[in-house]
Amino acid sequence: MTTAPPAPAVDAQRLEDFMSRAVADLAAAESAVAGYIGDRLGLYRALADVPSATAAELAAATGTHERLVLEWLRNQTAGGYVEHRDGRFRLPPEQALALADDTSPVFLGGAFEILASVWADTAKVERAFRGDGAIDWGDHDHRLYHGVERFYGPAYRGSLVQEWLPALDGVVDRLAAGARVADVGCGYGLTTTIMAQAFPASTFVGIDAHAPSIEAARDGAVAAGVADRIRFEVRDAGDVPAEGFDLVCIFDALHDMGDPVAAAASARAALAEDGVLMVVEPRAADDLDDNLNPVARMFYAGSTFLCTPSALAQDGPHALGAQAGPAVLTEVLHAAGFTDVRVAAETPFNLVLEAR
Ligand SMILES: C[S@@+](CC[C@H](N)C(=O)[O-])C[C@H]1O[C@@H](n2cnc3c(N)ncnc32)[C@H](O)[C@@H]1O
Repeated sequence: MTTAPPAPAVDAQRLEDFMSRAVADLAAAESAVAGYIGDRLGLYRALADVPSATAAELAAATGTHERLVLEWLRNQTAGGYVEHRDGRFRLPPEQALALADDTSPVFLGGAFEILASVWADTAKVERAFRGDGAIDWGDHDHRLYHGVERFYGPAYRGSLVQEWLPALDGVVDRLAAGARVADVGCGYGLTTTIMAQAFPASTFVGIDAHAPSIEAARDGAVAAGVADRIRFEVRDAGDVPAEGFDLVCIFDALHDMGDPVAAAASARAALAEDGVLMVVEPRAADDLDDNLNPVARMFYAGSTFLCTPSALAQDGPHALGAQAGPAVLTEVLHAAGFTDVRVAAETPFNLVLEAR
């Protein structure tokens, strides 16, 4: 019989520090449900519309239960989302930008929807951990898809036309003159629509393997008045139509694919001779030790439950994960046949690569 090694000594101060951090995490995790409820019921928006409100006034404005609204306001106040004085509650303008305004570049509401879908899918995640690791992108709670559009939307609205496209050599001039563009893994097609609105002389093809997303993308293009210049197709990224595109884009989707090299190679084959591939991925450093921050922590979590299982469901050779980093992404693009690859731009959540 072997003797168990002695348990390592516990440092009381380190234990206390860790408990403080973990309890803060639990408070934030439970409060994310309050964030979801505030977003769904319009509590943040109603509070942003007035200088301040009592629980009764907010409940009346939103058609909700006063006592629950009061408890929600207390939670929000304890978290620093809402301020309180003499029974009146106020959403400061900075918090209003993040929580009440879908069009603001710092809006966070979509993240609450993604979290709701992840919690609803924990049984699937548990099965994936015990099994082959796979969850098809289309098998998630439906709130994921709308949540992804709302989560990434602020960056797309604030950066795509303003920073990312201008960071690519000569691409804006071509788009302005009239270019052919493909958006691969386009999801709800927000990026396709934003580009179509900005470049009225260009035409666009959006493809995605998830049929309900393509339906939503078509509706979005009609609502935005650009449906005459966008074609959306249910199609795999390994089969980009070879139409001689000037620009192929892959927004926050390459790492969700089981065979990212094949997807990038297919994009390359679909490009015109002098065409450009733009790959937008979550921002990350190459090494785990350099990714120990809240943004990377959030992406690693999403990657565990959503992105990596999606790639594993496609039986491909690579599951990149959502924090692959520029070195691995560059390797993938080189393996796909691109010779000239560079990081063209970086924003707090995103990394933009240009490949030729
Ligand atoms: C995180 S979502 C991003 C969607 C959209 N580009 C955006 O940024 O909002 C990833 C998308 O990649 C799509 N996808 C994953 N694997 C794919 C594949 N092999 N072929 C085509 N689309 C794929 C999914 O269906 C999903 O819509």
